[in-house]
Amino acid sequence: MTSAAPAGTPGRPWAMLAELTHACPLRCPYCSNPLELTRRSRELTTDQWTDVMRRAGAFGVVQTHLSGGEPLLRPDLERIVAAADAAGIHTQLVTSGVGLDEARLTALSDAGLRSVQLSVQHADPGASDRIAGRASFAAKERAAALVRGAGLPLGLNVVLHRHNLDAVDAVVELGVSWDVDRIELANTQFYGWGLLNRAALIPTREQLSRARDAVRRWRERLSDTSGGPGRPELVWVVPDYFDGVAKPCMGGWGAVSLTVTPDGTVLPCPAAARLPGLDPPNVLDRPLEWIRDHSTAFTRYRGTAWMAEPCRSCVRRDEDFGGCRCQAYALTGDAARTDPACALSPDHGLVRVPADEGAGGAPPPYVFRGPGALGRRVTA
Ligand code: SF4
Ligand code: FES
Repeated sequence: MTSAAPAGTPGRPWAMLAELTHACPLRCPYCSNPLELTRRSRELTTDQWTDVMRRAGAFGVVQTHLSGGEPLLRPDLERIVAAADAAGIHTQLVTSGVGLDEARLTALSDAGLRSVQLSVQHADPGASDRIAGRASFAAKERAAALVRGAGLPLGLNVVLHRHNLDAVDAVVELGVSWDVDRIELANTQFYGWGLLNRAALIPTREQLSRARDAVRRWRERLSDTSGGPGRPELVWVVPDYFDGVAKPCMGGWGAVSLTVTPDGTVLPCPAAARLPGLDPPNVLDRPLEWIRDHSTAFTRYRGTAWMAEPCRSCVRRDEDFGGCRCQAYALTGDAARTDPACALSPDHGLVRVPADEGAGGAPPPYVFRGPGALGRRVTA
């Protein structure tokens, strides 16, 4: 029997990021997956993912992003989608589009897939392929047409950085021509491979300013007659290194979402695997209620009691939760410190200096993501 949840434990509903595999045909240098990718031999089986979906539905998960790596590399993806659908969970496929053909999409749609988010690296095919580390733009274009043809909602996800921020206009035009519903313009968050490649990816303030202006202009142009966002909806994920403002990461630690990694490890966010002392549980070993209410992984940074100054006495602490624990750890070695993205943090120089230096001189080559890739640098 699970004991009662401590006071302050958040209720439902929850979202679940299901990282079905870390394998991927692309090698994007901004990937937020951990540098140590989970081997395929350690991935959960079909029956285990089916069980995860059943438990997640009973727990109160209402939406899952089926992600990776590239989830299409799982030959049992249709069965996992069907299991989620049977559990009452809305499924969104997060994909590079590589490997999606008509038969596969029909099977996924028949299994209950509800929407697709497609990654694109640039509006220019050659530039997109260079960032992705392999020829893939043509497959993305085909995938977009298939998804629209099947009548499924389609979003584009474009991770923005020094090598594509000046192409925001072209990216929005691409989304319009592909008839997408939403474009997420996500400034690179520096975790995993993205942090490793920070010097190659970090933009200039001028690039960011131009891109912001472009988004503002497109929003005005696309908005509908009632002043709504129009279509495609443009989402701008803030570049927190540049704004001096910490983001309310994950809506608060262990508050509304959970991540299940390819081997079944349950984390409050995808980047938390590296944080020391969390002892993250495996979904096969413990009920999700126990994980939410009692595991160190989910309770360690919940609420505000763990905070030190300046967060402890800050008026914004209930709004941004002290920022991102994973970024605090990655940059300072202490996950309990104020996120250095905040201008009030004594460690703010750790983000301000790279942000001020961004684009000073030629960028270093990328380290493309992939097993054994560390040490192999390729010029962008
Ligand atoms: Fe947020 Fe902490 Fe900065 Fe205050 S000091 S704004 S709570 S990160
Ligand atoms: Fe883990 Fe922000 S990415 S708390």
